[in-house]
Amino acid sequence: KSLKFTVNGAETVLEVSVNETLANVLRERLDLTGAKIGCDMGECGACTVLIDGEPFASCLTLAIDCEGKEVTTIEGVADQKTGELHPIQKALIEHHGLQCGFCTPGVVMSSKALLDKNQNPSRLEIREALNGNICRCTGYVSIVDSVSAAAEMMKK
Ligand code: FES
Ligand code: FES
Repeated sequence: KSLKFTVNGAETVLEVSVNETLANVLRERLDLTGAKIGCDMGECGACTVLIDGEPFASCLTLAIDCEGKEVTTIEGVADQKTGELHPIQKALIEHHGLQCGFCTPGVVMSSKALLDKNQNPSRLEIREALNGNICRCTGYVSIVDSVSAAAEMMKK
């Protein structure tokens, strides 16, 4: 079936099969390998992307259901012209919010969805927003620190 959607601001048209997941289309067909496939079952959050601004597990999303929608992946988060990292990415680096980095693209996307709506989240709200993102390395405290710091950066 023909699928027309927007990926990181670019209108994209391609033929997909009806059972193809968004994760596979992004990674295998569009070469956007930032979203990671950890569990392929909707449990780890490593494959999180934004669809019309909301975070979704791309491994559980059928590509065909994205018809007419706007998909943002980790590749679309930094400034597309200058390459400058997004405040969330900068804060994760500065506050040691990542170690192996496997969860990080998903963490960035879930955090972005939160901060785009709530500029002043409490630590609890950050934890709730990251509820679906499993990190095996950091113990989460440094991730919450990072997202708090990013919120402060984004207010300036
Ligand atoms: Fe999609 Fe784990 S790979 S949630
Ligand atoms: Fe390794 Fe989160 S930094 S899983």
